[in-house]
Amino acid sequence: MMAAYARRAARRLTQQDLLYESLRRAILDGDIVEGARLASSRALAEQLGMARNSVLYAYERLVEEGFVTATRHGSRVNAVTPGGGAVLPPPAARSAGAARMLARRVLELPRRGTRDGATALRPGVPALDAFPFVQWRTSLERAMRRLRADDLGYGDSAGHPALREAIAQYVRVSRGVRCQPQQVFITNGTQASLDLCARLFADHGERVWIENPGYLGARSALLAGGLQLVPVSVDAAGMAPRAADWHEAPPRLIYLTPSHQYPLGSVLSLERRLALIEHARACGAWIIEDDYDSELRHGGPPLPSIQGLADDTPVVYLGTFSKTMFPALRIGFLVVPPDVTEQVAAAIGTLERQGRVAEQTALAEFIESGRYARHLRRMRKLYEERRDGLVAAIGRHLAGMLTVSADAGGMHLSARLDAPLRDVDVSTAARVHGLHLSPLSAYCLGGPDMPRYNGFLLGYAEAPPPVADALMATLARVIRELAEGGG
Ligand SMILES: Cc1ncc(COP(=O)(O)O)c(C=O)c1O
Repeated sequence: MMAAYARRAARRLTQQDLLYESLRRAILDGDIVEGARLASSRALAEQLGMARNSVLYAYERLVEEGFVTATRHGSRVNAVTPGGGAVLPPPAARSAGAARMLARRVLELPRRGTRDGATALRPGVPALDAFPFVQWRTSLERAMRRLRADDLGYGDSAGHPALREAIAQYVRVSRGVRCQPQQVFITNGTQASLDLCARLFADHGERVWIENPGYLGARSALLAGGLQLVPVSVDAAGMAPRAADWHEAPPRLIYLTPSHQYPLGSVLSLERRLALIEHARACGAWIIEDDYDSELRHGGPPLPSIQGLADDTPVVYLGTFSKTMFPALRIGFLVVPPDVTEQVAAAIGTLERQGRVAEQTALAEFIESGRYARHLRRMRKLYEERRDGLVAAIGRHLAGMLTVSADAGGMHLSARLDAPLRDVDVSTAARVHGLHLSPLSAYCLGGPDMPRYNGFLLGYAEAPPPVADALMATLARVIRELAEGGG
């Protein structure tokens, strides 16, 4: 009996809501014009075969929201222009208005590529099918078992102490970073670290030097953080500021990827690393060292981090587990100099909230148990094989069309397009065949005196050699067809 009543009530509710919604839409779309009189509630109820109360309810809502005015002679429709009585503008005007409300710097953000299903060779995604699920699940289960009620509250904004400790230990050994656990702050990945850097280490409108070409994620975070981007060119030895730049446009922040320049792949020379520290110290700038994939370097150990080259370098070191574990983990970290540790902890304490205690303690355990190091060894070998496979396939199918320019590390290589075509055109044509080719030109910031790059960033982590071979054969066909069709 109760259920039948509830069902009837729900039906009535739906009917009166539907009537309200359709009248409101008709008024907003101009189908019922200003001044028109709505049918009487009795007549409309009869016509629609619904209860008069439902019609009255719908009319009352329209009156309350200013779409309709009730008079002794019936209900009249108001104007829907601003000030004309109705509270909501029509939908088209509403969305244009919303876009205008976003900050201009946000509207200027570079766009990431479209997600259209073309995924082969995309950079930045590790070999997810080779991820040691079972071992990771073991660490997660252990972490879950150890959770206590206390762990479920607001944790330390700096991140779980066990993970800070494990990371400090790990980067000291593997990257020569000089740090104590209290200098390590856990974030939701490098993107979040960059966002934090823009807020913590620079004031609105201050200059940040960025590599050109450079990482779009950094450009976005720093631009959205209200900073002024100053592109600095890159050559075979990494970021190459002119001597005059230090006087003419001294930076507050310098963002760079010294161990594996993104996207070109060069390594910042030791000479430049030392010069950078000296100049940054002299002008009071912070160096933001994005060390996103140096653990995966092939052919010899990577150069140690800039952070660890001397005591008390003006460096904020950024690390991430997106490449070595998996991107959805969303765990990264920053290491700040000891003299600002307390201030950073206080600021982060008010700005951030940390969660995911199980994942953080699981990751600490994964590192400390040696499983992380074993996983990295396996991945390094796998990526080296896949890199070799891709380089060989390029040699076989694309001689004279594409030249590998840097392939010493990580999960991607950069290659120059030698055919007389634009990389964006080749990239667009290749998408149809499922190839995701990141055009190098997309990473460049404008300016007539800025060098342009024409080529691709090719991610090989997900492409075993036979797959890479087939993909390069396809790319060769695409390039030939475009070249024959006049580009
Ligand atoms: C230069 C660079 N830094 C950092 C990252 C990792 O970012 P996140 O930790 O936000 O996944 C990437 C990923 O593609 C990258 O290319």
